[in-house]
Amino acid sequence: VEQQRILGNTAPSIYDLRNLFQVNVEEGRHLWAMVYLLHAYFGREGREEAEQLLKRNSGDLDAPRILGAFNEATTDWLQFFMFTYFTDRDGKYQLGTLKESAFDPLARTCQFMLKEEAHHMFVGVTGVQRTVERTAELMAEHQTRDILAYGGIPLDIIQKYLNFQYSVSLDLFGSEQSTNAGNYYTAGLKGRWMEPRRRDDHVLIGATREMSYVEDGELRTRTVPLLNALNLDLRDEYAADCAAGVKRWNQVLEAAGVTERLILPHEGFNRKVGVYAGHHVSPTGEVLDEATWAARVADWLPGDADRAAVASLMVPEYEYGKFAGWIAPPRTGINDQPVEFDYVHLLEEGLA
Ligand SMILES: [Fe+2]
Repeated sequence: VEQQRILGNTAPSIYDLRNLFQVNVEEGRHLWAMVYLLHAYFGREGREEAEQLLKRNSGDLDAPRILGAFNEATTDWLQFFMFTYFTDRDGKYQLGTLKESAFDPLARTCQFMLKEEAHHMFVGVTGVQRTVERTAELMAEHQTRDILAYGGIPLDIIQKYLNFQYSVSLDLFGSEQSTNAGNYYTAGLKGRWMEPRRRDDHVLIGATREMSYVEDGELRTRTVPLLNALNLDLRDEYAADCAAGVKRWNQVLEAAGVTERLILPHEGFNRKVGVYAGHHVSPTGEVLDEATWAARVADWLPGDADRAAVASLMVPEYEYGKFAGWIAPPRTGINDQPVEFDYVHLLEEGLA
């Protein structure tokens, strides 16, 4: 909510403004749901923890949010859509482990939060899809990749935003190997994603899995205890889910007759947490030395010029049923209302 509040100034439509408000209201309520649990079940310690939770603010120098992705500024609507696709989806997977909790108040709270996350991810997948749709339309119409002059976001900038948001979201899963995660699981505080569907003993003592890592400048795998690698287990489920959206966006490109495709970068790309931290891995999974990385990184991550290009297209469109030029309209409205429905009433004259 703190990251996204400025987006109301540049909403590409009243329909999108409405979706932003729903996401913000629900995320705000998720915070209060956690504060409630701390107050209701954890005594003085819980109240103190809740106080700190409420004091922390995104990007605040003295009291920032604990996780990096929640301190990154959401500068424009493309980033918002990438955030709701990739970062809200991290939320879905974290909540998925907590809805298995033996601590019933937490499990029930997470079930209701998961229902709301579904809409946030819908905003993300359709938001990126509509952006790609407009981009593909302009590429086909003008027979060029360089569509900024025609008011669309170039596909390579969309790819950079995707690379960034996916990599910072992978960091949210923490270290691949974590004794804490194993202890929480064994204590029944957390489950795995879709625990009831797992066909093992649900105890995992002696169970193992493969883990990728970087050694001597190359990607290698080693066998690790599964109980220690539950963060990785969850991250793998998340990564597979993320790939589904990229496939959907590529279908839009294919349908428009555009040959370029979006890719989901390698799990080691641009990582600050876990086994890949301190190494440089390209989006296609090559381990790079410092100089090669430095020479190529501007092709892979959004820089100031990319963000400025996107920002230049972020003009508000507050006429009902109209959309900013960089994004296609949705197929249908929300709650069976038409696309041009008056979802939001603006009080200031001249805007409505
Ligand atoms: Fe969310």
